[in-house]
Amino acid sequence: MTKVRFISADGSKTVEATGAAGTRLLDLAQANGQPLEGTCEGAMACSTCHVIVAPADFARLPPASADEEDMLDFAYGVGRTSRLACQIWLTADLDSLEVRMPSGSTDMSG
Ligand code: FES
Repeated sequence: MTKVRFISADGSKTVEATGAAGTRLLDLAQANGQPLEGTCEGAMACSTCHVIVAPADFARLPPASADEEDMLDFAYGVGRTSRLACQIWLTADLDSLEVRMPSGSTDMSG
């Protein structure tokens, strides 16, 4: 199991979740109340699954594909360590991954 820490856009709320290897980060985020729409469900046609990976964790992720890089150009609030959560699958190597919601996202967890 891989632990992921989700941080709200303003940093005021943290949710820790655990997913099995092979779980898509987008699915884990949505199952734990994170405000990622993921409208195209991973078809890389929306960029509404954008997250900002903690700088210390960014190098642990496999590199983004050219298609992912292109879609990030359309995402709101992109940072240097931005990724699409629909393109990240959990592995043991990603344990304790930390991601922040982009600015402008709305916390749905209340
Ligand atoms: S869910 Fe649409 S690009 Fe990730």
